[in-house]
Amino acid sequence: MYLDPVIRSSAEKVAAARAENIKLDPRRLTAEEKERLLRDFHPDYREDQFAVIKAGLNRGEKAPHELAALLQGRSRIDPAEIDLTKPDYDVDVLIIGGGGAGTAAAIEAHQAGAKVMVVTKLRMGDANTMMAEGGIQAADKPNDSPARHFLDAYGGGHFAAQKDLLVRLVTEAPEAIRWLSELGVEFDKAPDGTMLTTHGGGTSRKRMHAAKDYSGAEIMRTLRDEALNRQIPVVDFTAAVELVLDEDGRCAGAVLMNMETRELLLARAGTVILATGGAGRLHYQGFPTSNHYGATADGLVLGYRAGARLLYADTLQYHPTGAAFPAQIFGALVTEKVRSVGAMLINAEGEAFINPLETRDVAAAGIIRECSERGRGVKTPGGCAVWLDTPMIELKHGQGAIERRIPAMLRMFGKYDIDIRREPILVYPTLHYQNGGLHITPDGQTDVEDLFAAGEVVGGIHGRNRLMGNSLLDIIVFGRIAGRSAAEKSRSARHGALSLDHVERFHRGLEEAGIGGGGASPKLLPTYNSMGRDF
Ligand code: FUM
Repeated sequence: MYLDPVIRSSAEKVAAARAENIKLDPRRLTAEEKERLLRDFHPDYREDQFAVIKAGLNRGEKAPHELAALLQGRSRIDPAEIDLTKPDYDVDVLIIGGGGAGTAAAIEAHQAGAKVMVVTKLRMGDANTMMAEGGIQAADKPNDSPARHFLDAYGGGHFAAQKDLLVRLVTEAPEAIRWLSELGVEFDKAPDGTMLTTHGGGTSRKRMHAAKDYSGAEIMRTLRDEALNRQIPVVDFTAAVELVLDEDGRCAGAVLMNMETRELLLARAGTVILATGGAGRLHYQGFPTSNHYGATADGLVLGYRAGARLLYADTLQYHPTGAAFPAQIFGALVTEKVRSVGAMLINAEGEAFINPLETRDVAAAGIIRECSERGRGVKTPGGCAVWLDTPMIELKHGQGAIERRIPAMLRMFGKYDIDIRREPILVYPTLHYQNGGLHITPDGQTDVEDLFAAGEVVGGIHGRNRLMGNSLLDIIVFGRIAGRSAAEKSRSARHGALSLDHVERFHRGLEEAGIGGGGASPKLLPTYNSMGRDF
């Protein structure tokens, strides 16, 4: 129920136009129109929001100011004070990060017979995976194929994806769904047992598999249970603050920090997997975020300092539909599935201004345009928004469809007396995903020997824009690959003396580049206190 008279009168216009709008199928933009829209309104195109990196392997490339500052920050440790001869932990495969990618990697490495340990700065499952809603793509229906899946994702990513990675993603997708089902994930199914699948933005076939609108939570629940059943050791509330190399530059462990006591610990490992997730909590350009509290780009910083190259650090994903009202859920994800099952994007005047299933970057730019250039956004206490006309869903699919397909959305808004079956909701783009990240080979190895990476910390799989449902897919496909590869490689790993010389070298590089006095990184936790102090 909207009490503000301006918002209420706009909601009434949306209701009045609904019967006509529901018959529309707004045309898709041409390639030229999309390009113009992105150039003029997408946040990635705001030159003043990016810095040129001055030190390290990506020197000369752009990154958001907040990320560039962390990449060029100083270590949290003094290498001279770490005794590298006395490890606290000694394992075959060390996994840094306890979200979907890290846990999938742990299961596979354990399956391959490796002695595995997971460290996580919060707890296993405190991760973006847990918060993923809409679903996971896989071309496993008779009218579909991995080749079609490839074409959709490659085009949606502006033809910039690393083709070898994308090929692995789409070809191993059906097996990923089978693996998850066998582990116990309860995907939505028709009464005859066939999987229910829907479209996402930019998909040419219905290949989105879901567990209602809490697909990530269902997947994470299952992975965590499997890891617990296997008794894989998990060291929680413990962050990696630096990678350790050997004298030949191969990754051989990490310096860890207990988040409560600040005690430093040393883990030696045959191979290391970085699975630290994304960076939404850096709030680029002041955007709210749909991300988990721990999403602070830690893996990018650790990998970069150790000599791993980044790909596309300048491209972020702003999910078109973050909740814009009420304030308590500002920036929370309103899953794309809401549009997949029939809700349309409507401006303050009651006009359907864009096809609801344009790719995410295009839909986000379209919403920003309504709010800025066209002045057709709805003024909210937090700024500006457009409508997502959720009552259309039950007009199209009958009563009960919302409870059946998107119950989490019904509850999230219901807590604030907004019944999405009867009233539309206010949305605006929210920082959702980093398209860029560490470069990996199709076997999951970064540019540093014996250092692997999986999940959102990786860049290049999706190019410069990711389609819905390809992230839950990539954490499973590349998490499993990294786990298997790291286990295999750890068998032959023969490391020399452990070393933190790369940290000293990186510091010297910063000084040569004229970057003095930078803050400490990785960031580990976001800064929200009034003193503006980091953890
Ligand atoms: O809209 C969503 O449910 C988000 C999915 C994704 O990022 O893949």
